[in-house]
Amino acid sequence: MDTDEPVDLTSLGEDFVRNPYPVYAALRKRGPVHRVRIPDCPEAWLVVGYDAARAAFADPRLSKDWRNASPELGLVNVAAGSHMLNSDPPRHERLRKLVAKEFTSRRVDKLQPQVQAITDELLDAMLARPDGRADLVDALSFPLPMSVICELLGVPFLDRESFRTWPNEAVGAQDPARRKAAAEAASRYLAQLLEDKRRRPGDDLLSALIRTTDEDGDRLSTDELMGTVWLLLVAGHETTVNLISNGVLALLTHPGQLDALRADMSLLPSAVEEMLRWEGPVETPTYRFTTAPVEIGGTVIPGDGRLVLMAMADADRDPARFPEPDRFDIRRNAQGHIAFGHGIHYCLGAPLARLEAGVAIGTLLGRCPELRLDAHPAALTWRPGMLIRGPQSLPVRFG
Ligand code: HEM
Repeated sequence: MDTDEPVDLTSLGEDFVRNPYPVYAALRKRGPVHRVRIPDCPEAWLVVGYDAARAAFADPRLSKDWRNASPELGLVNVAAGSHMLNSDPPRHERLRKLVAKEFTSRRVDKLQPQVQAITDELLDAMLARPDGRADLVDALSFPLPMSVICELLGVPFLDRESFRTWPNEAVGAQDPARRKAAAEAASRYLAQLLEDKRRRPGDDLLSALIRTTDEDGDRLSTDELMGTVWLLLVAGHETTVNLISNGVLALLTHPGQLDALRADMSLLPSAVEEMLRWEGPVETPTYRFTTAPVEIGGTVIPGDGRLVLMAMADADRDPARFPEPDRFDIRRNAQGHIAFGHGIHYCLGAPLARLEAGVAIGTLLGRCPELRLDAHPAALTWRPGMLIRGPQSLPVRFG
């Protein structure tokens, strides 16, 4: 039993938010699992290193079901309804199968022209700015995934403004009461949206999810539909925003890599994988709770609903897996990174995220030959918390 005080990650302040990698690496040198204090919770168990993090992702004793969370943790679950990412087998398999049946690679491929059209429109607006400057988060990284997810789900244009606020608040707000309020507002909205779709179905994913029936007649309940739409909205948005921002920032702070990419755009897919590995949008995954004691590297995490987090940001910078891991190198083989998670909850939207990042970054570089940062990288403010990693804004010059 570990009787030491937890490592207080909240006391590390802005330095840790800006650059958590050295802290994780120092912990990794001491062992694969550590009791820590995090912004949300006085005690969590943090798993560091590639092998240990992957093993934890695949460990069935770590539950995604919030009913297994110890009430002593005092955590607030902000989900609106049930969905695959807050479910364990066999319910997880059932929900994922019903959604995967409709959220197919064909549906994603069909979105390509729309992703390109939305990107072009956003860049037209950005390039029309007379001062030749913009915040890239505002101009591209944020609105693109939001428009794409609305397009995919078939959410009317007028509603998109409200669709913007909640995921951001529900995941990003530091105050749990604000997160809960955002989730509740979303629930009310989603219930109305479902009702409208039932009355006026279209050619979109949401109509397909309402209609879909498994071979054995199984379908998604209203609560599961709400949860699933909420999940697609949050998982599909907050993450992709930061893949675009982090990826562009990595290129602009590594001019040699940017030049190499501009000289040979066929490197773009491998550059996107390296962006995911080097500065992935997800620093630690969604919460897992122990349902039985779990021993990792000689330390036993008690089995009574303790919170376990994997430092994915550290796993993908583990020198035992990726040589010279702190070097950003678009030509390296970054495959095997765990930026999209691992195991049964592996990201269902990975093909869409890759499509959006490729179109956004490729088109941006093509249209802005002079693109450069308009701030010192050290002056950028990073999103607080340990879930999502990315700059709050990304000032660029293109003129
Ligand atoms: C760069 C963008 C993205 C990243 C880095 C990312 C990352 C992740 C990660 C790490 C997980 C696993 C979480 C865990 O195990 O706790 C996950 C799950 C998931 N993601 Fe993504 N995601 C991205 C984009 C998307 C998009 C665009 C969609 C859909 C529109 C999406 C839908 C999902 C869903 C449905 C799950 C749950 C899968 C399950 O529980 O079986 N994601 N994602």
